[in-house]
Amino acid sequence: MNKRIERIVAGNWKMHGTTHKSLELAGFIEKYLQDKNYKTEPTVVLIPPFTQLSSIAKGSTSYRVGAQNMHHEDQGAFTGEISGAMLLDLFVTYVLIGHSERRQLFGETNQSINLKLKSAFKHNMKPILCVGETLDERESNLTDSVVKRQIVAALLDIEYLNLTNLVIAYEPIWAIGTGLVCEPNEANRVTKLLRSTIMELYKNHTNSPNDNSLEAIPILYGGSVKGQNAASLAKASDINGVLVGGASLNAQEFCEIINAFV
Ligand code: PGA
Repeated sequence: MNKRIERIVAGNWKMHGTTHKSLELAGFIEKYLQDKNYKTEPTVVLIPPFTQLSSIAKGSTSYRVGAQNMHHEDQGAFTGEISGAMLLDLFVTYVLIGHSERRQLFGETNQSINLKLKSAFKHNMKPILCVGETLDERESNLTDSVVKRQIVAALLDIEYLNLTNLVIAYEPIWAIGTGLVCEPNEANRVTKLLRSTIMELYKNHTNSPNDNSLEAIPILYGGSVKGQNAASLAKASDINGVLVGGASLNAQEFCEIINAFV
């Protein structure tokens, strides 16, 4: 039985906007989705800063809402942190885990990412696990080994049944915020590699011959996705959507990107 792979267009707003401005942006996107009657495909996920989550979640009938990070514990003496339980309280169902800015600027390690993933699954949330190589790693031909290592470490001891909620984003770090998009054939090759790595990891865990949860994991590309390159990324056979940073702050351009994945 072939399960269709869900297509996802997610907008990571990073640390931008005020509630007022962000509501305008979300309102524009909501209206666009309703006018176009995009009921199911692609799934649109808006990922604002924590302070805007509640307001953005309230207006969501056509889009889903995600957080940019979470702590792995449910509660405790962790000043400044937000837990999965708190996100669920706001009806936030998606969460970015291991974005390269978190890894590079805030010291996130494969181990902390693994704990966050476990917590997200425990809360029945949909984590978007980000992996990707630096420019140095790419130039040293280390892309494949780096992204494989990130996937294996992030999924350590994660139960097979949880994978139906997993989303992956391949985000080469050199492409993030630089205007240098990864060439679609190459992005496609790496997304295929990520899927085969997961298949290899869980090869003894399938439930039944008809079960194809691993084939159905959406694998997105992220890094300088724009209105003008979205269509070529959407045509790649193994890219199931995009994680958009800068261009997701421009309502019209983000809608153009959504349109490429319909
Ligand atoms: P960018 O960011 O689209 O601005 O390159 C992508 C991301 O950081 O997820």
